[in-house]
Amino acid sequence: MTNAIVLGMQWGDEGKGKIVDLICPAFDAVVRFQGGNNAGHTVKFGGRHFALHFLPSGILHPGMACVLGNGMVIHPEAFFDELHKLAESGVDAGGRLFVSARAQVILPPHLHLDAAREAARGGGKIGTTARGIGPAYETKAARSGLRTCDLGAEDVEARVAVLRGQLAAELAELGAEVPETGELATACRYWGERLAPYLADTAVLVNRWIDDGKSVLFEGAQGALLDVDHGTYPYVTSSNTVAGGVATGAGVAPTRIGGVLGVVKAYTTRVGSGPFVGELEDETGDFLRRRGNEYGTTTGRPRRCGWLDAVATRYAQLLNRADALAVTKLDVLDELDEVRVCVGYRFRGEVRRDFPAELAVLEQAQPELRTFPGWRSPTVGVLHYEDLPQQARDFLAFVEDEVGTPVGMVSTGPRREETIVRDAPEMTRLVSGRVDRVLAHRDVSA
Ligand code: IMP
Repeated sequence: MTNAIVLGMQWGDEGKGKIVDLICPAFDAVVRFQGGNNAGHTVKFGGRHFALHFLPSGILHPGMACVLGNGMVIHPEAFFDELHKLAESGVDAGGRLFVSARAQVILPPHLHLDAAREAARGGGKIGTTARGIGPAYETKAARSGLRTCDLGAEDVEARVAVLRGQLAAELAELGAEVPETGELATACRYWGERLAPYLADTAVLVNRWIDDGKSVLFEGAQGALLDVDHGTYPYVTSSNTVAGGVATGAGVAPTRIGGVLGVVKAYTTRVGSGPFVGELEDETGDFLRRRGNEYGTTTGRPRRCGWLDAVATRYAQLLNRADALAVTKLDVLDELDEVRVCVGYRFRGEVRRDFPAELAVLEQAQPELRTFPGWRSPTVGVLHYEDLPQQARDFLAFVEDEVGTPVGMVSTGPRREETIVRDAPEMTRLVSGRVDRVLAHRDVSA
């Protein structure tokens, strides 16, 4: 059985939720390993539409075991809100949803700090999702955070006092609310009690499943270029979004992971601030935003748009070593006369093909573009690779070459049923030979 990772190869919003939803019948469990409710995974099928922030997209499958791993940061109220909304839509997560007892908790001071810092940064803001993610990871590293299992601990008040003590001065300085220790401790006990039925030592659980021959899918959130170590720092999220994050964020050793599926949108988007070589601040950018409905699932913010950036995606490939790519939103390019790919960054007269670490280089670099004729015909709902227009296949072949890995899937519309799954050995291996289950799942909702 293969244990695989699905992750984003750009700046998030590549359409991972749809891909996970589609392939998860080939797996026995879906595990998230980093981030929190900053993520926004949209899944559409059979006329229904779900927006998930915390829960793995696998939750929509009756009976599928789902895990929120230790590398995540959990806001209990938001977690229960999401569960409640799902229950209202008829999705029952009872008995199959496990939250790591070691995951960190997002508490009100984290949220206040995220918002207050962003406001204070003015023009230099990071453009966070204001969900308290960064501050929660900070207090984790500072060893003053609370884990989900600490919420119900006898000394919770003392722990909260330490956390509050660490954040109070900055909160006060920024004019933000500083919640009282007693009030925080009461909230912790309340959420601790409610969370208790979901808590588990998820590293033990997931490893046991693997020992028993089950296959596990690890669902990434955000994208490689938002990784705190490897991304466009400081314009990143605060977790490790790359494949290596699975080992620490789920407690599963690299030797147990058999494959990586990298999700790449047919063009590039980014939300929030930070360098974006080749950002299209023109009619084409507006077209991509409108046609691709590029507005944040979590915050509703318009996404910045540009052509597919092969420099960034090649770097993401170096970090993740994807066995295959899932190219999403190909249909968004259908009406264009020409389609472009950024193949290099021009900086001080030189064209660089590596992804530079220095912000100043990224900010000043100009995109070196390669132009392809558009296909100008609808690809929406195409199910076989061979049925794609020749120009679209040429474009995809170029992406394969540039990134250095084959295209295994192509998404040709927002719905589950609008996806090409290629008959390729890499795809077959990634889903443990269970391609038939994936195709049956794709076609059942059509
Ligand atoms: P944070 O994760 O809320 O701290 O935000 C840090 C940066 O990551 C900001 O630029 C956000 O817009 C970006 N970000 C966080 N989550 C997502 C996501 O799911 N998709 C795209 N961008 C995200």
